[in-house]
Amino acid sequence: MLVKIRVDDKEIEVNKSKNLIYELKKHNINIPHFCYHPQMGVEGNCRMCLIELKGAKRPQIACDTPIKDNMEIFTKSANVKKLREAILELEFINHPLDCSVCDQVGECSLQEYYMDYDLQPSRMQVPKVDKEKHLNYENGIIHDQERCVLCTRCVRFTKTISKTDELGVIKRGDTSAIAVFPNIKTKNRYSQNIVDVCPVGAMTSEDFRFKRRVYFLKTANSICHGCSKGCNIYIDHEKKKYAKNDLIYRFRPRVNENINNHFMCDDGRYSYKLENKNTLEFAFIKNKKVSDIKAINQAKEYLKNAIFLISPNCNLEEMSAIKSLAKEVNAKLSGFSESYIRVGDGDDYLIQDDKSANRNGLKILEISQDFNELKKYINSCENIFIFNSKAMLACEELLNLTKDKNIINISSKENELVEIANINIPCSSFSQKSGTIINCDNIVQKYDRAIISQRMDLIDIVSEFLGREVDLDIDLLMKEK
Ligand code: SF4
Ligand code: SF4
Ligand code: FES
Repeated sequence: MLVKIRVDDKEIEVNKSKNLIYELKKHNINIPHFCYHPQMGVEGNCRMCLIELKGAKRPQIACDTPIKDNMEIFTKSANVKKLREAILELEFINHPLDCSVCDQVGECSLQEYYMDYDLQPSRMQVPKVDKEKHLNYENGIIHDQERCVLCTRCVRFTKTISKTDELGVIKRGDTSAIAVFPNIKTKNRYSQNIVDVCPVGAMTSEDFRFKRRVYFLKTANSICHGCSKGCNIYIDHEKKKYAKNDLIYRFRPRVNENINNHFMCDDGRYSYKLENKNTLEFAFIKNKKVSDIKAINQAKEYLKNAIFLISPNCNLEEMSAIKSLAKEVNAKLSGFSESYIRVGDGDDYLIQDDKSANRNGLKILEISQDFNELKKYINSCENIFIFNSKAMLACEELLNLTKDKNIINISSKENELVEIANINIPCSSFSQKSGTIINCDNIVQKYDRAIISQRMDLIDIVSEFLGREVDLDIDLLMKEK
């Protein structure tokens, strides 16, 4: 229910049932905070979010102040400013001043709040309390106890989200620290989110730390292709001097409250490595390197009496274009892709058994996934066009059926098919193109191109086969379905 409140003498409308910090952010009013997290609720331990509430005798923590109709709060008053300075001074009593060598620089809340609200030199005359540094909590997490502000977000993550309870607070007073329980390591499939939720440089990723300063990286909005959940991600990338293509440094979760909220699984997060490696760079006819266009023109000769095998990772635009091509040249079409399914691997949170991103796209375009039908098609045709699919590689029976056929392999990756194909044509992979996919819950999502690649998009290759631009209106297509 929407109600009106006054913030710093300005009236705004907010949702009464939501958290005050969360609602104010929608109006670009940022309340500094460490312990509150939209997914893990209120803890009330950091006091960084203090505000003044009209009628209240003392300052209140914004994270735990219920929204009431006509309430009036002050977030910029002289008193609030003083409170923020005082809390930051407290935080810095034992925090090491090592920003220049800390991996969190550029995305550290403590550093940003210091610049926004504090900027005072330390008054401390006694030595700082030493704690443990560089603790390896395994599963790619390195912990620095001295940098911790004890917000307990990491502890609450393992309690309420991964439900694995590996972390806890030990000791008392200024010796308090985050630790793993004896003989337990952070072995859960979502453990890297602990690094994301930590507002400072206390939990760092072994995989990413010291690889690149975050402010050098460019970021694109994308969708993980690791399984059919379609978690929303950021792709952080950068082109190195003299390098041909950008390098992807990391995938990070992007908030989508209908799908993955603030999180993603570790397998999906590390799948950025697959995007960086085994790229099929050149076109080949037999074993001879040729230009892409020469390979495409040669492949056109095989379009008659063909079967098209399409990957469940192709986006809707590509699937629809390939379907149009199949109709035009009277080719058979199959989306068989059993090897993308890992039965029993999924959980009841994000991870799905189906390791493909757009199987529902195949369904909506009525592209057959039946194995026997595919075998029948292969037996009756001469030429097999593989559109970025790995399905054949994992199936001995299919590979045997293709022995006396011509294989035209259109692929973003180098794999065993490259060896046996008559023609290989390189195409861009998902981080190098934009598109639309449908996740396992039938949510239609668009993603952006992160990397500009030298290789052609699959859709442009299909246009070359057709001899004209593929004209697609995905919104119209979805409306018709
Ligand atoms: S390690 Fe990070 S997330 Fe955990 S309590 Fe310390 S500051 Fe908070
Ligand atoms: S759950 Fe699936 S879509 Fe989400 S991050 Fe993991 S692999 Fe990617
Ligand atoms: S965010 Fe409110 S007390 Fe920490």
